[in-house]
Amino acid sequence: RRGFLVSAGLATGVAAVGVGTGYAVAQAEAAQKAASGDLGQQKVPFYGKHQAGIETASQAYGTFLGWKLKPSTDREGAIRMMRLLTDDAARLTQGVPALPDNDPYLALNPARLTATFGFGPSFFTKLGLDSKIPTGFAELPAFSIDKLKPEFSGGDLVIQVGSDDPLSLSHAVRQLTRTARSFATILWSQSGFTSTPGAKPEGQTGRNLFGQVDGTVNPRTAEEFDAQVWAQGSPRWFDGGTSMVLRRIAMNLDTWDKLDEGSKELSVGRKLSNGAPLTGVNEFDPPNLAAKSDNGLPVIPSFAHMRRARTDDVTQKFLRRPLNYDEGINSDGSPNVGLLFAAYMANVSHQFVPVQQRLADLDLLNTWTTPIGSAVFALAPGCQPGGFIGEGLLS
Ligand code: HEM
Repeated sequence: RRGFLVSAGLATGVAAVGVGTGYAVAQAEAAQKAASGDLGQQKVPFYGKHQAGIETASQAYGTFLGWKLKPSTDREGAIRMMRLLTDDAARLTQGVPALPDNDPYLALNPARLTATFGFGPSFFTKLGLDSKIPTGFAELPAFSIDKLKPEFSGGDLVIQVGSDDPLSLSHAVRQLTRTARSFATILWSQSGFTSTPGAKPEGQTGRNLFGQVDGTVNPRTAEEFDAQVWAQGSPRWFDGGTSMVLRRIAMNLDTWDKLDEGSKELSVGRKLSNGAPLTGVNEFDPPNLAAKSDNGLPVIPSFAHMRRARTDDVTQKFLRRPLNYDEGINSDGSPNVGLLFAAYMANVSHQFVPVQQRLADLDLLNTWTTPIGSAVFALAPGCQPGGFIGEGLLS
């Protein structure tokens, strides 16, 4: 039955779940709100060359779900799973209930909902797809700074969901989970946030929980995305895909707060007030790494995070799209917070690993940060109506 409903397409979805006139009224109201630019009615197109949720400006809320395939899920099973997940995502992101959807009203206000799917290295191995592993895609090497916990690491499949509304996000996560758990077992779920739309001045880069402006140096134009983020046909099925590195990095706010503002700024090399480099005035001023202060020391210290992470080699640049996480208070009274550092790049080994290695070797920020989770996923290219995410890999 479900297969029929899936192939019947989006337009029939609402009638098919058998919801009453109350739903029709709610839907008409939603259409009206859409015309008035209502936040809940903002939609990110699902179909296209690339999956949504990567180039999409960060939403206020996000959840990453890591899954392990059930032993019974073979390649045919994985195809069924991805068809159903694609169908759920295509509907929910456009404000249409999933099939079936017990709470269709919760689907009406997607608020820029996106759902993005990716495959871990073990997915390829388990399904006999090693010959299709993207160029440069592999588990990360161990880094000296790592204190990784299994409950935040690895996975065969990732589902990344984002929305500007936590209710819309929760509903989508529930629907996608219901579909995925027929084929896979949940390994971990990690949620985070940025800022509520409208809570910070338009166009200002967001802040992390250290209070730093985070996300200044990032690809912004289509050309930069093509050069840094989207894989260019290597192998062919991956053309238009990308890889995601997800690192859960705990941040020690108690020890961080022992620093004065000047010391905090030296650790990164940028001002806390507006994110400007210590050698500049405005956020996007290029830093002068050669500048020396009166005492002869570099204005941007040799150990500063920004200097260590920085590269002029355009082939090593990538997209950072992190979320803050806040899991409340640890038993010792300290805040359990950090960063879900999500980075996207065409080639993990070439672009990400050298940067992470440099930061593991020297970065003053390591004094207050600890990577406690790590996973890599190949995010398939997008698909067209009738297709499904991962079709080039699995078919
Ligand atoms: C830049 C914070 C982890 C790579 C920055 C900036 C801040 C920051 C405040 C300067 C503003 C900007 O350009 O966005 C943090 C914090 C981290 C963290 C708090 C951990 C909790 C990482 C990791 C990597 C990384 C794990 C990569 C392995 C970069 C890069 C830049 C940067 C490439 C841009 C450097 C440039 O070209 O100027 N980070 N970061 N960061 N970070 Fe991080």
